[in-house]
Amino acid sequence: MHPYIAPLAGLLLAVYILLNVIKSLYEELASPLRHLPGPTGGNPILGHAMRLDGDYSLTQTWQDEFGSNYQYRWFFNKRQLYTTDTKALSHILVNDTLYQKGTIPRRFLGDLLGNGLLVVETEDHRRQRKIFNPAFAVPQIRALTEIFNDKSLHLRDVWLRESPRHFEGRIDVLTWLKKTTLDAIGTAGFHYEFDALQPKNGANELNEALEHVLQSPNQRRDMMRLAQASIPWLKHFPLPGSKAFTDARQKMFTLGAQLLEESKAQISAGVGEELHSGRDLLSVMVRANMASEGQKLSDSDVISQIPTFLVAGHETTSTATASVLHALSCNPGVQSNLRKELFSLATDNPTMDELNSLTYLDHVVRETMRLFPPVGFTTREAMADDVIPLSKPYVDARGLTYHSIEVKRGTTIRIPIAGVHRDKAIWGEDADLFNPERWETIPESASNVPSVWGNLFTFLAGPHNCIGFRFALCEMKSLLFVLVRAFEFREAVPKEEITFTSSPVRRPSVRIEEGKGIQMPLIVIPYSSSEA
Ligand code: HEM
Ligand SMILES: *[C@@H]1O[C@H](CO)[C@@H](O)[C@H](O)[C@H]1NC(C)=O
Repeated sequence: MHPYIAPLAGLLLAVYILLNVIKSLYEELASPLRHLPGPTGGNPILGHAMRLDGDYSLTQTWQDEFGSNYQYRWFFNKRQLYTTDTKALSHILVNDTLYQKGTIPRRFLGDLLGNGLLVVETEDHRRQRKIFNPAFAVPQIRALTEIFNDKSLHLRDVWLRESPRHFEGRIDVLTWLKKTTLDAIGTAGFHYEFDALQPKNGANELNEALEHVLQSPNQRRDMMRLAQASIPWLKHFPLPGSKAFTDARQKMFTLGAQLLEESKAQISAGVGEELHSGRDLLSVMVRANMASEGQKLSDSDVISQIPTFLVAGHETTSTATASVLHALSCNPGVQSNLRKELFSLATDNPTMDELNSLTYLDHVVRETMRLFPPVGFTTREAMADDVIPLSKPYVDARGLTYHSIEVKRGTTIRIPIAGVHRDKAIWGEDADLFNPERWETIPESASNVPSVWGNLFTFLAGPHNCIGFRFALCEMKSLLFVLVRAFEFREAVPKEEITFTSSPVRRPSVRIEEGKGIQMPLIVIPYSSSEA
């Protein structure tokens, strides 16, 4: 490296920080958020960002202390809004022109994903959703159920082999579930075999590349990428991890282009929908795009959905399933009731409708997705000044009552998915308790939660709701159906030791085993009915 590069970068950074500190001091004078309650302190440059980067429960603690609406500080001490008010959240999520993901998150995602559904906004987004929605509708997911069951049985067989090999049958279930959901999205999504559960002729090259960005997430690396997204010229400096990242991106897009060509070729050759190969999401999307009367999407828009679905659908679903298994290990009574219900179906290959007919399974999944939503929060940025209506007024430090919150253009709002799910005003005093039975009659107030599924905020709401929610639920139910019939799950460490990172995907780890990183260890014992 040239000897002046490091001092030059340092100087640029110092100037950048100084300019932003001045800008935020100036904005502070006019910030309408300064009347909201919120935590004090915070670093002059980093605000509360570094504290928020640790255990996710900090925002929850603040919610208990300051109520449903509060503000905290982000980089350069800029105020951000936190609200669990359901009227405010509906207002924000329904208008995707006024409230968008914002420049930095879009750049952060776009660097990896191109112009996929997670990145595009407004008109481009509407065009994409219109063409892709049918691929995720009920009939399509119904047709994919057999693939999910197949992967679930594969995992069952791996665990039957693995469990006796480990002390007391302790297995990190998350690692294996990640491999399984990667295989599932590969086959069901694009008719591609990752072979993550079963490395055939050595490891799959793409899987290895993805290992870096998807399989072994790393908070520090994410912060580095976030810094690059915030300060674009940092890209010109060789930061650690950049090369592996570019490689993974390159491989995903090369594979994407190849899969798209294969899919198009099959469709032109008249391979019908009834065949296994024509059922995957990609084929359905390609067919829909070909048939579209309006403006068609470009190849690169279609290809971008491949990394998008890999990123959006793989770690979320595996974390979700690991959370259910963990909840079952902490609640043996729930586990045995669930197992009883699952054995009422005499098949290893249930249909989607059969899976959905299992009421207790549904309640267990809902309750886990309420208490441990895999995506703990997201954010939106106000594209213009606005006044956000509230369902319940708040009182500021001077005793003044407000029925709405004023925000300036550029204000970031934290959409606290997990916070809404633990709000006692919505769910009652026992909101923090795991209790699947609560779903027999849920409180009236839960109907105010903006939602696409089960009065829950898990998959968000509004035009950017999770397109894959039926896919995820069907896959989870298939996994639980197969695994809970085959194994008994017990706690491997006391539940107080399990913590979650505050990254948007809440990643579990064990406090006393920090060196092991992201994991969800459980004791997994083959189930035999005679023992019960
Ligand atoms: C339990 C599993 C899952 C959870 C909790 C989850 C959660 C979410 C959430 C909260 C969002 C909204 C993000 C935002 O706008 O800020 C979202 C969007 C999205 N999800 Fe999921 N997701 C899951 C599984 C999946 C699966 C399996 C797929 C695909 C196969 C998928 C594909 C997407 C896509 C493409 C978007 C962007 C939608 C848009 O903006 O139009 N997700 N998901
Ligand atoms: C979004 O908000 C803007 C500005 O208030 C308004 O002009 C527009 O009609 C709103 N769009 C929707 C879909 O509500």
